[in-house]
Amino acid sequence: MKLLRVLPLSKELLRQTVEAGEIVIDATAGNGNDTEFLAEHVGENGHVFAFDIQQQALDSTYNRLSSLNERVTLILDSHANVQKYITGEVGGAMFNLGYLPYGEDLSIITEPDSTIKAVERILGMLKVGGIVTITVYDGHIGGDIERDALLDFVKNLHQRDVHVIRYELINQRKNPPFLIALEKMRSFTTPRRVE
Ligand SMILES: C[S@@+](CC[C@H](N)C(=O)[O-])C[C@H]1O[C@@H](n2cnc3c(N)ncnc32)[C@H](O)[C@@H]1O
Repeated sequence: MKLLRVLPLSKELLRQTVEAGEIVIDATAGNGNDTEFLAEHVGENGHVFAFDIQQQALDSTYNRLSSLNERVTLILDSHANVQKYITGEVGGAMFNLGYLPYGEDLSIITEPDSTIKAVERILGMLKVGGIVTITVYDGHIGGDIERDALLDFVKNLHQRDVHVIRYELINQRKNPPFLIALEKMRSFTTPRRVE
C-alpha cells in the first residue's frame, strides 16, 4: 500500500467499510466532493444525508450531483442535529472541517462544540465496524481551538468502544490537513469516555 494523502485515505477507509445500499452521512457538504463520492459508493439503493449550515454550500453540492441527487438528502442545519433527520443504522460518515472553499463568508467555520456533539451522536448511530473520518484543517483563525478540543474528545473515548487513529504527512508546508478516523468496536448509544 502506498502512503496515501489524507483525503484519499479517508475515502479508502470508507470504501472498505461501507456496503452498497447503506445510509451514510456527509456531515459537512461544502462543495459536494465527499457527498458525490459517498453517493457513488452506496449505489442506487443507498442514501446519503448531507449537512451544511450554508445554503450556498447545499446549492453547490446540488449542482455537482446532477442525477445522483436522487440518492441524497441535503439538509440545511447543523450536523449537531443529526438525530432529527436520520433513524436507523448508519454505515459510515465523513467530516471535512473548516470553511467553505470559494465561499462568500470564510469566517463561517465548523466549531468545536457542534463538531464534537455531531461526532458523538453519529458514533451512536453507526454500525459496529463502521468508520467516521474527520479531515482537520487548523491553519485558519479558530482552527487550532477546534483541533485541540476535538483531539481532547477523541483521545478520551474508551478504547473498548472506539478505536481512534491520527494520520498525517509531517514534511509538508502550508498547514496540510490531518486525518482522525474512528472505528466503532461495540454497540452503544453514547460512547464511554475515560476520565
Ligand atoms: C471544508 S468545508 C467542506 C468541504 C466539503 N466536504 C467538500 O467536499 O467540498 C466545511 C463546511 O462545513 C460547513 N459547516 C460549518 N459548520 C457546520 C455545522 N455545524 N454543520 C454542518 N456544516 C457545517 C461549512 O459551511 C462548510 O461548507
